[in-house]
Amino acid sequence: METILIVDDEKNYLLVLEALLAPEGYEIITTDKAEKALNIIKDSDLDLVITDMKMPGMSGMELLEATKRINPDLPVIMMTAYGTIEMAVEAMKKRAYDYITKPFQNEELKLTVKKALENYRLIKENRLLRKALSDRFRYGSIVGKSKPMLRIYDLIQKVADSKASILISGPSGTGKELIAKAIHFSGPRKDGPFISVNCGALTETLLESELFGHEKGAFTGAIAMKKGRFELADGGTLFLDEVGDMPPSLQVKLLRVLQEMEFERVGGTKTIKVDVRIISASNRNIKEDVAEGLFREDLFYRLHVIQIEVPPLRERRDDIPLLVKHFVDKYTKDNQNKQVELHPDVWKAFYNYSWPGNVRELENVIERAVVLSSGGIITVEDLPEELTNAQVELEAERFVPPGMPLPQALEKIEERLIRRALSECNNVQAHAAAKLGITKSLMQHKMKKYSIVI
Ligand SMILES: Nc1ncnc2c1ncn2[C@@H]1O[C@H](COP(=O)(O)OP(=O)(O)OP(=O)(O)O)[C@@H](O)[C@H]1O
Ligand SMILES: [Mg+2]
Repeated sequence: METILIVDDEKNYLLVLEALLAPEGYEIITTDKAEKALNIIKDSDLDLVITDMKMPGMSGMELLEATKRINPDLPVIMMTAYGTIEMAVEAMKKRAYDYITKPFQNEELKLTVKKALENYRLIKENRLLRKALSDRFRYGSIVGKSKPMLRIYDLIQKVADSKASILISGPSGTGKELIAKAIHFSGPRKDGPFISVNCGALTETLLESELFGHEKGAFTGAIAMKKGRFELADGGTLFLDEVGDMPPSLQVKLLRVLQEMEFERVGGTKTIKVDVRIISASNRNIKEDVAEGLFREDLFYRLHVIQIEVPPLRERRDDIPLLVKHFVDKYTKDNQNKQVELHPDVWKAFYNYSWPGNVRELENVIERAVVLSSGGIITVEDLPEELTNAQVELEAERFVPPGMPLPQALEKIEERLIRRALSECNNVQAHAAAKLGITKSLMQHKMKKYSIVI
């Protein structure tokens, strides 16, 4: 049932309006003071306010303004016995839904009320829809709506309930750890521990005792028994970060533990059994490491029963707007809810930049820009130099060996740009050509020249 609040200092009007509208199936609340009305508006879930314009104390116009501050979408219909057009215009400017003049025609009033309620219903539905849409484009704290990200959400859901080992691969800052946590927290182990260990940051001996723990006196400095991460993760998930950097001797030990789910602490003899789900991550291409004999093939197959590949941000630019919004919200909250907009040139810079540091870099850029921005707008001046400086130059340095003659260097860059445009356009030549501002036939000619096969 929809609820209407009616405010008028003349009690007779309250009675008349209630008698008129209650039979239409609305719930009616009445009050003769705007101040009281305001409290009701704050505390209840209303669908419409009908208020008199001229009242002692707070006026109808003030009530309108206060209501719009509380809920800008809630419709307010103004009533006035002083049906001057100026007042009505002013109320409409202040976003009143409509106004009626006293004495009013019953049917006209009923119709205005019906339209206002219908309109509000639509606004509410839209709000829900928007919320539902935005929920679809996030998974826990992961944000993104590009095809690869939607696929990743799907995968997370599918693998969360199983115990299969997962290998998440992707360049630095793409959100691998976030995904690992999302898998853990959407599965049956969510109340168990999520323990992570960085396999690249420690020496071999330290990493071994970090993973498996050690007994008192196992080595110099082992003054007390220490549980390893495997033991701590019992009943939960162990996240092996940078697993590709694990030294070969430990790879053998890890393999055994993964097969048996049992091990001994360093310097110990007691066998410890655990129930741990393994999620690992790497920004190296482990498959290549396997081919080069740097990573054990058997371990690789153990770890990547299921593989999740996270593409670099430049290959999923569709995610940029949502991520920007997400981080702007996050950092304006940290900065006294500072309201900020982005200048169109900032968006342009974001779209054109190659984001070598991926989402982490975007997050840092936004945090910095929110702090630096003034006047409620982020401009290119608030961005770090690398985003605005000649990007081609930067890119060029990476692909052109020093000392290469200019004509060859330019060709290298041209080839690079064409390849990139193609990959960004899913190999649709016409789109890639349009992106580069050349004709499709010129594009094909260049592809032949550089032996680009798609
Ligand atoms: N899709 C995303 N939505 C929201 N935040 C993200 C997303 N991807 C990454 N981030 C944020 O970016 C930062 C880096 O993410 P994370 O640590 O998960 O990356 P990573 O792939 O593990 O990087 P590295 O290889 O350097 O360890 C974190 O602050 C994370 O919250
Ligand atoms: Mg990480």
